Amino acid sequence: MASLPMSPQVFSILSALIEQRAGLHYAPEDRELLQDKVSSRAEEAGFDSLLDYYYYLRYDPAGSEALDALVDSLLVHETYFFREALPLSVLAEDVLAPAVHAGRRPRVWCAACSTGEEPLTLAMMLADRGVLSGVELVASDLSTRALERARAGEHNLRSMRALPPGVEGRWLEVHDGRPRVKQELVDAVDWRRVNLVDAAMVAALGTFDAILCRNVLIYFQDETALRVVESLTRALVPGGNLLVGTSESLMRFGTALSCEERRGAFFYTREGA
Ligand SMILES: C[S@@+](CC[C@H](N)C(=O)[O-])C[C@H]1O[C@@H](n2cnc3c(N)ncnc32)[C@H](O)[C@@H]1O
Repeated sequence: MASLPMSPQVFSILSALIEQRAGLHYAPEDRELLQDKVSSRAEEAGFDSLLDYYYYLRYDPAGSEALDALVDSLLVHETYFFREALPLSVLAEDVLAPAVHAGRRPRVWCAACSTGEEPLTLAMMLADRGVLSGVELVASDLSTRALERARAGEHNLRSMRALPPGVEGRWLEVHDGRPRVKQELVDAVDWRRVNLVDAAMVAALGTFDAILCRNVLIYFQDETALRVVESLTRALVPGGNLLVGTSESLMRFGTALSCEERRGAFFYTREGA
């Protein structure tokens, strides 16, 4: 089916609405991409004009829910088990296990967990060290659909592409072509829906010893990413660590966090421990 026409003006107001809701940034060269995705949702909802659809999203009582569903359809959930695993193992080994052994119950938040492979990888590492039950693990995403899959323990074979030997059989099994993680790991994670650009939602989670916010800031413009990093910083205990993706750096924002290297992994630390 051909897409509905999207003028530069309609692109501008629709992309601003999406950015305001979820932080996702669409540059003018992304107009066709956005047009295709928005058109199919608009047509499903019975609209034959994207301007009318915009007014519906913006002003209709049902518009807010429809905007959430539209945003959900735009999100990229690419993730896999043991992705960028080194920082996770350093966190488990050097920070979390010692805290548990010292009698504390550290809190960790995986802030854009997609379908769950990242917090489940950390859960496997903690379980291997015998400290999983000593750590409070919260994982969240904006996408309701991704979270449903995470909670159901539903993954796909592509998510196993970096699995080290010994994990399959111990923590994960493939049934009918689908990897399934041991239920005790899924149950060890408190799954929540949190929008990172909503500072009040972030603040409501309390404070954490470590926050993982990996491979999501890349979808935001610098100004939005800085606001998110500031609210994540407030959600860290003094001395707490923020971990971003290996291709991401916070240095260009002039963040209040200090960056330290630990065994080849970069940790951003809130001062004042
Ligand atoms: C590419 S995945 C990264 C998953 C995982 N952190 C990793 O590194 O493998 C990006 C995730 O960020 C989520 N996301 C995008 N914007 C968000 C927002 N405003 N609040 C919360 N999550 C968001 C998407 O739904 C998606 O699941």
